[in-house]
Order: sequence, then structure tokens, then C-alpha cells
Amino acid sequence: MKLTLILGCVVVSTLAAASGHTFNSTLDEDWKNWKSQHGKQYTKDEENYRRMIWEDNMKFIEQHNLEYSMGKHTFTVGMNQLGDMTNEEFNEIMNGFRPADADNANEVDEFDDDIDDEESNEDESNDEKPVDWREKGFVTPVKNQGQCGSCWAFSATGAIEGQWFERTNQLISLSEQNLVDCSRDYRNHGCSGGWMSNAFDYVIANHGINSAADYPYVASDESCKFMPNKTAAMIRHYAHVIRNEKYLAKAVSRIGPISVAIDASQRGFQLYRTGIYRNQNCSRRIPNHAVLVVGFGVDGRQKYWLVKNSWGKGWGDEGYIKMAKDFRNMCAIASYAVYPIV
Ligand SMILES: *[C@@H]1O[C@H](CO)[C@@H](O)[C@H](O)[C@H]1NC(C)=O
Ligand SMILES: *[C@@H]1O[C@H](CO)[C@@H](O)[C@H](O)[C@H]1NC(C)=O
Ligand SMILES: *[C@@H]1O[C@H](CO)[C@@H](O)[C@H](O)[C@H]1NC(C)=O
Repeated sequence: MKLTLILGCVVVSTLAAASGHTFNSTLDEDWKNWKSQHGKQYTKDEENYRRMIWEDNMKFIEQHNLEYSMGKHTFTVGMNQLGDMTNEEFNEIMNGFRPADADNANEVDEFDDDIDDEESNEDESNDEKPVDWREKGFVTPVKNQGQCGSCWAFSATGAIEGQWFERTNQLISLSEQNLVDCSRDYRNHGCSGGWMSNAFDYVIANHGINSAADYPYVASDESCKFMPNKTAAMIRHYAHVIRNEKYLAKAVSRIGPISVAIDASQRGFQLYRTGIYRNQNCSRRIPNHAVLVVGFGVDGRQKYWLVKNSWGKGWGDEGYIKMAKDFRNMCAIASYAVYPIV
């Protein structure tokens, strides 16, 4: 089964009334600083509504980090550029991927295997060493998708960048805008969502992709401006990883950065800061966001996947998140892993 992912990339315009709400005046200065730090500008009506949400997120952060200090959580959260969005808005604008129509086109058999929920805690003897492909030069700096549902394009370029580096020893930042604008005939929807394998289908059929320098990112749907005389990288094929964390570990350790889809819908993810993101509320089956696994490791006794996101360096831990590994496929991280073959 292949998922067609649709993103409801709607910018919220109906604002709930914040009348009668009193703000916490001790936060006035923080609010001002936060707005200027992130270049936020609101109309008078919107300002109150955003302040209300922001304060609610501040409260969530304080509570969560208090619980963290008592050992109830394995990760901390913090204020970031997404702090004026409710969790619902965040999911609409930043994620919003929903598995919709099944599409069996060019799928491999392994892809249909059921998730192996039970045996994943048993691989303590696994001799696979921790790996971080950033140290080997496979990974470009963290990028920022802006308010455009193009995470699938960033995940796809990240995987190609790694494999192209492996082949050529050149790390070239590739063009997400090229994919956003030009892969509509391959069942992608630009800023309204898409899928990494569809992006790979496009790059294969198109005989290449431009560099981000030649075809810069603008975070909106534009007409296709691919330049055949400026092809920066090519792929021949792609492969799905059997949906199980053991196979994902094998793929990451043998191949390089791997494209994955995850459930990023929780508020703890939205405001993640440090530690290992381990959240029982995260779906083990239904992803809504695409990212890039660039390695895995262990902190103390906790295993994690090292994940590159596309929300800028200001989000998370310098743009990255460590997600619990071998925790029964948390956030569906091993369910839709795919990588290009150069
Ligand atoms: C106001 O915010 C401060 C700092 O976050 C917090 O310690 C305090 O409890 C808040 N006051 C109210 C009434 O919520
Ligand atoms: C490359 O192609 C574009 C149009 O696709 C054209 O404008 C440009 O002049 C070409 N550059 C070279 C060096 O041929
Ligand atoms: C999971 O959801 C419950 C109920 O909404 C909440 O109390 C709990 O803190 C959540 N866990 C995490 C790690 O966010």
C-alpha cells in the first residue's frame, strides 16, 4: 500500500475572540522579545489571540519541563517560532499529512509487511555501531520549509544529497523548489503535500534535479523552471525499507541518510528542545510529516534515531531531534522509509 499524502495547508483566518482574557503581565517583556526575535507582526485583534496561545504554550513548557526534572519525560521542550500556533494550527500548516487513497503503483512486496511491534526490544545483541552521517560529510545544513507543506521535498533532497556525496564526494544542496514546482505529474501537490518516492520518480524520469543555488527555495507553488543544462544530481532508482526498525537501522548504517515519514502531531514535538523524544501519544501507524534519519546512537541506556527536520536551526536541537529507537516503532518512524539509488 502506498499512501498519497495530502496536506491541508490552510492559513488560519478566523480568530477566536480573546476578549475578557487577562494576560500574565510578568510575561510582557518575554512576549515582546519573542515577537521581535521571530519577526512576528500581528493586527490588533490577532495580537491578543496569539498572546493567549503563546501563554498557553509557555505554561505547557513550564509544566512539561517541571515533570522532566522529576523524571517523567525523556526530553525537554522550549519556546520557538511555532509558539504562537495552537497544536491544531501547527498540524494544519506544518504537517497536515493524512494518508488518503491507497495507490498500489510501483510498490514492493515488503512494504506491505505488518509492523513487527513485539520483537523490537530484543535486539540488544545487535552489533550495529552508532552512526552519524553528518560527521562523514553526507548532510547539508538544516533548511527551513517555511509555511509550505513541502517537508516531503526536503526529505527527498536530503536523501539524494547523501547518496550523491557518496558517489561523487561532492556535497551539493539540492533544490526543493524544483520538486515542489515540477513533480505535480508524479502525484505530488507542491506546498499542499507530497511523497518522497513520487519525488524520486520525477527525478528519475527528469534525468536530474537542479541545485538549490540554481533553483532557490521560495516556499510557494510556482511554475516549473527546471534547467536541463544545470543538472546537479541524478538517481537511477529507489528502494523501500522493510517496515521494521531493525531494517531501518541496517539501511541507515549501510546506505546513509534515509527518508522517513513520522507522526509529528504532538505538542511535545512542536516545541521539542533537547533529549530523546519519547512520547506514548505518538501514533505508531499514521505519519503526517517527512524528515531524514541521518544516524542513530545511544544516550546512557536509551537508543535514539538522529533526525534532521526542515523547520530551521531555531527549532529543536539546532534543527535536529533525537527520537526513541526500538520503542515499538514510535511515531511510525520505520513504516515508510525509502532511499534513492544513484
Ligand atoms: C506568570 O508567568 C510566570 C512566568 O512563567 C509564572 O511563574 C507565573 O506562575 C504566571 N502567573 C500566573 C498567574 O499564571
Ligand atoms: C540553460 O538553459 C536556460 C533555459 O533553460 C537558459 O536560459 C540558459 O541560458 C542556459 N545556460 C547555458 C549556459 O546554456
Ligand atoms: C500524552 O497525553 C496525555 C493526555 O492528553 C498527557 O497527559 C501526557 O502528558 C501526554 N504525554 C506526553 C509525553 O506528552
